[in-house]
Amino acid sequence: MNVTLILYESKYGTGKVIANTVCPILGPAKSFDIIDAPSDIKYYSNIVLVFSLYGQNSCEKILKYIEENKIDFSKKRVALVCIGLNKQDGLNEISKLKKIVNNENIFCEFIKGEMFINKLNTDDKEKIKSFCSKVGIPFGDLGEYDEKKALELGKDLREYFNTPKFIPPVNITKKEIEAFLINKNTCTLATGYGDFVRATPLEYEYYDGNIYIISEGGLKFIGLSKNNKISLCVYEDYKSMNNLCGLQISGEAKIIKPWCDEYIDVLSRKDLKVENISKLPFDMNVIKIVPSKYEFLYSKFKNLGFDSKQIYIPEK
Ligand SMILES: Cc1cc2nc3c(=O)[nH]c(=O)nc-3n(C[C@H](O)[C@H](O)[C@H](O)COP(=O)(O)O)c2cc1C
Repeated sequence: MNVTLILYESKYGTGKVIANTVCPILGPAKSFDIIDAPSDIKYYSNIVLVFSLYGQNSCEKILKYIEENKIDFSKKRVALVCIGLNKQDGLNEISKLKKIVNNENIFCEFIKGEMFINKLNTDDKEKIKSFCSKVGIPFGDLGEYDEKKALELGKDLREYFNTPKFIPPVNITKKEIEAFLINKNTCTLATGYGDFVRATPLEYEYYDGNIYIISEGGLKFIGLSKNNKISLCVYEDYKSMNNLCGLQISGEAKIIKPWCDEYIDVLSRKDLKVENISKLPFDMNVIKIVPSKYEFLYSKFKNLGFDSKQIYIPEK
């Protein structure tokens, strides 16, 4: 199982907030303060080390933990996430830690932190005071942490850790996805913008790399009118962990203009006669979904010797 361990070293809480924000996004995952970290990491395939900068004292506890427990990262996917006020300081500290982790397969990110004078202990207050007078800046609060950055980090880390290791030839992934989409006919389409989010069950047709939906109307058009980005999924009912089948599609939606060739083709493939549809006392809308990414969790891939989750990016 692809389980993630997150270890954070954070004196004033920013690093802890970041670790705990990414944890559910990376799940199955568990986040620990470095002082409570498990001494054995064998259950985890992915390790995220989150550390904040404190001048010469950065990463002290993480380094002690690695040394005392003889942590071996060689068979793990590793991510280093550094929090601080100055990106160059962060990059320097990341490169030091990179050497210790000694693994080719490392994801690194710097995130801007923040520092509130009234939160600091006496020792740190003095250090910061003397630093500020040395570089000629006023002694006061510094930096601003942006929660959005942690959410983006969670997304990037998830993509990094979920990149399959055992990948079938691309034509096999494509063939399995297409066979599944052709075999099914109902999807859940997620649309939205701002506070408006809507998941709608809909009949669809997969045709020539795109998904077509015929719709009389509904609240999904609120989301589609402001945001053409969609998420769509098609799946089998859950039976067991050995029998998983769920396809998530990201893409863009377009409303097809009535009576253009493409619109008429969609209707005719459904045996709907143009003369009958045009006589209806209401509009018939056709939504075209152009997929940009397919994520397919399919136990059959595992039975074929590949990772059960595969990603397919169609050519434009
Ligand atoms: C004593 C001390 C030293 C710091 N040294 C650095 C530094 O060398 N470079 C830097 O970019 N930020 C430095 N910072 C800023 C912290 O990295 C920043 O405030 C961070 O958000 C703290 O994270 P935390 O809330 O997880 O403890 C320092 C902060 C303190 C309190």
